[in-house]
Amino acid sequence: MNWWQRHPEQAADSGERLVALAPSLLSADFADLRADIADMAAVGVDLLHLDVMDAHFVPNLTFGPFICAAIRRCTDLVLDAHLMMTDPHRYLESFAKSGVDAITVHVEADSPLPETLEQIGELGLKRGLSLNPGTPVDSLDPYLERLDVVLVMTVEPGFGGQSFDPRGLEKMEWLRDERERRGLDFAISVDGGVNDQTAGPCRAAGADILVSGSYFCKNQDRTKAAAILRSEHH
Ligand code: DX5
Ligand code: ZN
Repeated sequence: MNWWQRHPEQAADSGERLVALAPSLLSADFADLRADIADMAAVGVDLLHLDVMDAHFVPNLTFGPFICAAIRRCTDLVLDAHLMMTDPHRYLESFAKSGVDAITVHVEADSPLPETLEQIGELGLKRGLSLNPGTPVDSLDPYLERLDVVLVMTVEPGFGGQSFDPRGLEKMEWLRDERERRGLDFAISVDGGVNDQTAGPCRAAGADILVSGSYFCKNQDRTKAAAILRSEHH
């Protein structure tokens, strides 16, 4: 069973490859986060995506390990911390202590990547690497062997609610091919502008995890939104 999937049996039932859904809490109700996360869990989401922004790597500021620890106390769901930070390596231990399960850093960050990925692994966490829409996908090439998840950004990181950049689709296809060719097992995740229009092309391009902020979290009918995102037969 893949670490990022909560319902692998559903995929087997329908014969269809069912992608995992990771709501971005950026669009959650922070005034009542425990209830909002419980609602997402009841809908059957697979994991939670935590957008950490340092007001330096991106022009926005969100939260750090302290809030991640509070989120940990609200749920047993797998937590993936997406660190949009210039110096993520300085904070890896704090995030590990907060109880997240995976840490995703950016290939464009200033941190020394081999050491950063190694430390994430030593801390017992899944290792993720992300790239911005304008960054060529082969910049990930030297790291693919040591990754548990690749996060393809399809918006400029920093804000929810932006439109999907289709350049990410070719990157997902390339990653799927490289993974197959090299016999690797990292998950392909996509983040930014994922909605009812863009989820299908992402699934077809090989995405295993769809991160969705505004479309899923702010949807009046999350059950239906989750079905639309995860499957072509909803
Ligand atoms: C953007 C974040 C995304 C964002 C996605 O910097 O990394 O996770 O919250 O939000 P939507 O789905 O609204 O594009
Ligand atoms: Zn994100």
